[in-house]
Amino acid sequence: MTRGSLARVIGCVVAAVSQGCGDGLSTEPPTPGRLEPSGARSDGTHSKYESGLGEPKCVDEYWVYEVSRDYGCLLATQWAERGYRLPCGQLCGSGAETCVVKEGPERASQHISRGDACTTFASTAFLYCEKSLVRGCMVEGRRPSGLCARADDPFASVGAWFAECAHLESAAVVAFERLTIEATALGAPEDLLERLRRAQDDERRHSIAAGELARRFDAAVPDVAVEHTTEREVFQIALENGVEGVIRETYGAAAALYRSMHARDARVAEVLREIASDECEHASLSWDVARWLDTQLNAAERAEVSRSMHQAIADLRRELAVEPPPELRRIAGVPSARAALAMLAQLEERVWSLDLRVPAT
Ligand SMILES: [Fe+2]
Ligand SMILES: [Fe+2]
Repeated sequence: MTRGSLARVIGCVVAAVSQGCGDGLSTEPPTPGRLEPSGARSDGTHSKYESGLGEPKCVDEYWVYEVSRDYGCLLATQWAERGYRLPCGQLCGSGAETCVVKEGPERASQHISRGDACTTFASTAFLYCEKSLVRGCMVEGRRPSGLCARADDPFASVGAWFAECAHLESAAVVAFERLTIEATALGAPEDLLERLRRAQDDERRHSIAAGELARRFDAAVPDVAVEHTTEREVFQIALENGVEGVIRETYGAAAALYRSMHARDARVAEVLREIASDECEHASLSWDVARWLDTQLNAAERAEVSRSMHQAIADLRRELAVEPPPELRRIAGVPSARAALAMLAQLEERVWSLDLRVPAT
């Protein structure tokens, strides 16, 4: 999809949802069909990101069910066939926001795909359920790996919302700086490098503008902390670009456009209009980076990138289901959960379904 056509589709998606045309869209996940009761449950918490000092910044709850091979096979098959839309709350119990079948009970265990579940694993699989303790959804630019997530709720106030905006815009500067260095080392075409450098400048401007709005609404802007990371392989760069760029920046561009059209505060709307325009370009840039990196991946790596992008859509779906407070909707134009999910569904249908490869089975 070219830059012009992606911008047009994003504009259409936002216009359709803004005019109520998205009302007919189904945001309900399909029913899971026949499922058996789950087995023994174990519980725990883990930190999602850690700062350079090793201090946990964001803690998630998780719980794991040990399930039979047949049950794992059934779930993995349905996940693959239904595009990762199984209702996790129904499978894992109340509060679950993400869920996946894994070969072991740990977070780092390998995901089971349809083929794996039915052939590779002997007798046991694990249904891994997760609930984030950070509330409210904020999609604002790409996050660098190792970013220390903040525990503050961006839905707590208008100031908190813009403080988190500024924080994520600053984080996006770090992400683009790193990507530019890596792309240069990998011999990326000069036009791609030039666009990456421009994106860094864009994110710096966004960060300053969002920071000014945060201070206007009496909130302090937090520093960005990114834990030290080692040199990355092409596969890891492609994985981050797929999730943070192709999925989240594309949605972020639509969300920014929506907010620019609905914010009642004149200065907020002005800032958001500029950000929305830049984010459309960043979304398009992510797709072009993905196409360039794709040529350097093997088949297994491509399948894993694709699987991660599908998971990122599922993650967004549960994040966007949190209803923002009326004050945020009015002043900052933040979409309701219904409008946000409708935009996501339209992007899935009109953009991602055309270009994302189906995960290998
Ligand atoms: Fe961006
Ligand atoms: Fe931005």
